[in-house]
Amino acid sequence: MSEQIVVKKGLEGVVADSSSISKVMPEINSLTYKGYPVQDLAENCRFEEVAYLLFNGELPNAKELANFEQMERESRTISKDLISVIKHFPKKAHPMDTVRTGVSFLGMEDERIWDNSTPVNKDKAIKMLAKIPTIIAADYRARNNLEIIAPRKDLSFSENFFSMCFGEVPPTEVVRAFDVSLTLYAEHGFNASTFASRVISSTTSDMYSAVVGAIGALKGPLHGGANEQVMHMLKEIDDPAKAREWMLTALKEKRKIMGFGHRVYRNGDSRVPTMKKYAQGLGKFKGEPKWQEISDILEATMEEQKQIRPNLDFPAGPAYYLMGFDIDMFTPIFVMSRITGWAAHIIEQTENNRLIRPLSQYTGPGERKVTALSAR
Ligand SMILES: CC(C)(COP(=O)(O)OP(=O)(O)OC[C@H]1O[C@@H](n2cnc3c(N)ncnc32)[C@H](O)[C@@H]1OP(=O)(O)O)[C@@H](O)C(=O)NCCC(=O)NCCS
Repeated sequence: MSEQIVVKKGLEGVVADSSSISKVMPEINSLTYKGYPVQDLAENCRFEEVAYLLFNGELPNAKELANFEQMERESRTISKDLISVIKHFPKKAHPMDTVRTGVSFLGMEDERIWDNSTPVNKDKAIKMLAKIPTIIAADYRARNNLEIIAPRKDLSFSENFFSMCFGEVPPTEVVRAFDVSLTLYAEHGFNASTFASRVISSTTSDMYSAVVGAIGALKGPLHGGANEQVMHMLKEIDDPAKAREWMLTALKEKRKIMGFGHRVYRNGDSRVPTMKKYAQGLGKFKGEPKWQEISDILEATMEEQKQIRPNLDFPAGPAYYLMGFDIDMFTPIFVMSRITGWAAHIIEQTENNRLIRPLSQYTGPGERKVTALSAR
């Protein structure tokens, strides 16, 4: 019996279910959301349109977008109780832990928590989309002993986040690069955090619990946490003249280089060229080309040595740094975006559910008798 079992470590190559949300096509280096290439969406839509697409399956017309934006803008405020809890978070806690707890609190505040019907889950998704940035920004301000800034209804999703963090909206070049990054991060098939959210939803638990679990999965450096590690690496190198040697030494020591490699894309991540273009633009706009110079040398050396290509976290890390965000905010920003993909998957799983419960191959001791405690 055991000879017939084929264990796919890390579920590599396993098709666990079908999904109509996004299509990852590594062979042609392409990713589509509901059939639209992600680069096309990033260049031609605002993030709000992409969120609507993921929640509803179609891009909105002007009226649908206006209604959706109004709902999102009117849901940005978080309760006084939650603000008070955020103010009491340990100052040194990682913002991924604080946003995870914040979302858990939103679940406790929602009387419809057990209602998993699609209209209610879509409404919860919009509320989470609207409130997660407020939680992240409030926590950032509280942690730095700054006054918390209330959300503004007159600003777009991306503009409002800058306003809540820094008290002002930066030039269009910066907001646009941020908005593009949110579109690129929004959805990516059965990645680890999305799969975690689907496993939780498959037990018919609630949407907030599924998102909390997904945030926990995203935090890991092998998944979303890589965008923070990329910036720590670039800062450690600090000088383009040291970049090649740094990479050669790291590879010799068999270290995993953050921001490189991907379980699905073996020939390059389809999202990288768009993000790289905007990261380069930001470097020029801010008069800080150093991070791009270091990145280019790392990328070329990795290509020459191991033919492993960068993933989205590689250009996104320095882009967020140039926008002025603390490094530990990078993965929470990923949460602000990926909530759209998670919600779409939670709704899809719930609408056509079967408990996700795989098997394992047992490798422990054979059956044996219990020895009495006195004799052990
Ligand atoms: C993303 C990741 C977990 C995919 O891992 P995976 O599918 O399990 O691939 P493997 O770890 O089996 O890698 C295959 C080979 O490439 C190497 N490799 C993969 N990513 C590498 C990296 N970032 N740096 C150095 N070597 C890497 C592995 O060491 C392995 O080499 P080997 O066959 O000589 O042992 C992995 O590439 C990684 O850890 N990357 C860094 C973290 C990161 O950027 N994560 C964000 C993902 S979007």
